Amino acid sequence: MARKDPKDLRSARWFAPDDLRSFGHRSRMMQLGYAEEEYRDRPVIGVLSTWSELNTCHSHFPERVQDVKRGVAQAGGFAVEMPTLSVDESFTKPTSMLYRNLLAMETEEMIRSHPLDGVVLMGGCDKTTPGLIMGALSAGVPMIFLSAGPMLRGNYAGKVLGSGSDAWKYWDERRAGNIGDDEWQGIQAGIARSAGTCMTMGTASTMTAIAEAMGLSLPGSSSIPAVDSAHQRMSAACGRRIVDMVWDDMTPDMIVTDAACRNAAIVAMATGCSTNAVVHLIAMARRAGVSLTLDDLDALGRSTPLIANVRPAGKDYLMEDFYLAGGLSALMKQLENMLDCSAMTVSGKSLEENLKNARVYNSDVIRPLSNPVYHEGSLAVLRGNLCPDGAVMKPAACDPRFHFHEGPALVFDSYPEMKAAIDDESLDVTPDHVLVLRNAGPQGGPGFPEWGMLPVPKALIRQGHRDMLRLSDARMSGTSYGACILHVAPESFVGGPLALLQTGDIVRLDLPGRRLDMLVDEDELARRREAWISPKPRFERGYGYMFARHVTQADQGCDFDFLQSDFGRTVGEPDI
Ligand code: FES
Ligand code: MG
Repeated sequence: MARKDPKDLRSARWFAPDDLRSFGHRSRMMQLGYAEEEYRDRPVIGVLSTWSELNTCHSHFPERVQDVKRGVAQAGGFAVEMPTLSVDESFTKPTSMLYRNLLAMETEEMIRSHPLDGVVLMGGCDKTTPGLIMGALSAGVPMIFLSAGPMLRGNYAGKVLGSGSDAWKYWDERRAGNIGDDEWQGIQAGIARSAGTCMTMGTASTMTAIAEAMGLSLPGSSSIPAVDSAHQRMSAACGRRIVDMVWDDMTPDMIVTDAACRNAAIVAMATGCSTNAVVHLIAMARRAGVSLTLDDLDALGRSTPLIANVRPAGKDYLMEDFYLAGGLSALMKQLENMLDCSAMTVSGKSLEENLKNARVYNSDVIRPLSNPVYHEGSLAVLRGNLCPDGAVMKPAACDPRFHFHEGPALVFDSYPEMKAAIDDESLDVTPDHVLVLRNAGPQGGPGFPEWGMLPVPKALIRQGHRDMLRLSDARMSGTSYGACILHVAPESFVGGPLALLQTGDIVRLDLPGRRLDMLVDEDELARRREAWISPKPRFERGYGYMFARHVTQADQGCDFDFLQSDFGRTVGEPDI
């Protein structure tokens, strides 16, 4: 590759000319304490950090930023830390998903408006990965994604605890009266023991795996636990590598191709694939101008076996085990024949070269294709008169007895209404019922909250039931499990057919046939549609107002229409 001339660096537009503007930029760099030789004719690297003191998964970022900066300096670049919106999964309400696109917008605009030649994107807690990548894809400068890394495995009284999954599990036991205060306190203290993202194969680990499989992270980086010293070394390596990527002018359009998006989807399926990944994958692909549809994902889901034996889809292990078993490189090695290994990656090498020395060290954690955890991938896309534009389900995460099911609907119009009813022990519900929550989609939630793993009613819990068929236009946490149908599109809030379902109607799921229907005749549905009144808008001002006007439906990736790559004229570089 031809090396870039220093005068062609993007940052040189700010710093090089002998004019009043550039005089101002250089004098302000002096104000920051930097002499010209420290940054002139060198790649200026933005280290985009999604840190905040309330982002529990990224609490190690202030140190890691220094490691990245060390690497940038070693390679002859000049690094600056740029904070971006810190979208954390634990505290952000009503849902972090409301703010993914805001992070994407901020990322794109921070890059475009500043003298940056390349960026290292530091994220990991669920929405930060797609948010940063979507924005940086649109900005178009060379980039590397550095994952926060998973936290250490949880522990209480000799039992291993997994993020999310075990919280749900033990909460049901507490609701059933089987867990006392002391034990509950112990679980609370032991389930999140260190910096890092959720250590099940939830959304965070699926998304960071996707980033790596897309070619946007250095090989093996996404599996390294946050507090492992290998994570520090990898951070410095990202710093060194991004400088070379700038000199080589290796922009993300050379990496995020059709093949890269397909590779990412296959890897997602093989890991157990948080359902959230579907929405983010579609949105990221679209930013790169690649069309990836729900039907493409269903097809890949049918042909890709699930081989990561990591909870919640797998049985026994957590991300630390996955890392020690060889990590994502080892998993991708198993899939080599299904992937397009000619795809280029940020390492400057093809996937094939990156995977040359990858090996599995524990074949119970990372299974061979001949002994998968589940014969198909982790995802199924349903269609039918309840979800003409699709709905998703994780076949591997639910009991096969639900794969074909008919039962009466028990419908709730809002989350508070559902929450109040669910603990009422006199609730008229049987194990065959289909629990339904609507007005919980992108517009209705608002922001598409993770309410889709609806709690099993207390009345059923007491009878020993722990799963039932649940249906909503919400998402669910990647650490959730159970017979949950999600992402019904169009959502009920905008008049999707889910809005017409009534308590007592029979819902039919045929998972092998990929169908989801309500057994209500057309005339009756037409009558109900006539009588349907559209709900009041959720927001009348502020960011939510803009969100509601521009967010697309789940099957389209929930990006803002005006941020998609095919919307309007390219923005281009700013005048300086
Ligand atoms: Fe941050 Fe789960 S809460 S990854
Ligand atoms: Mg999550």
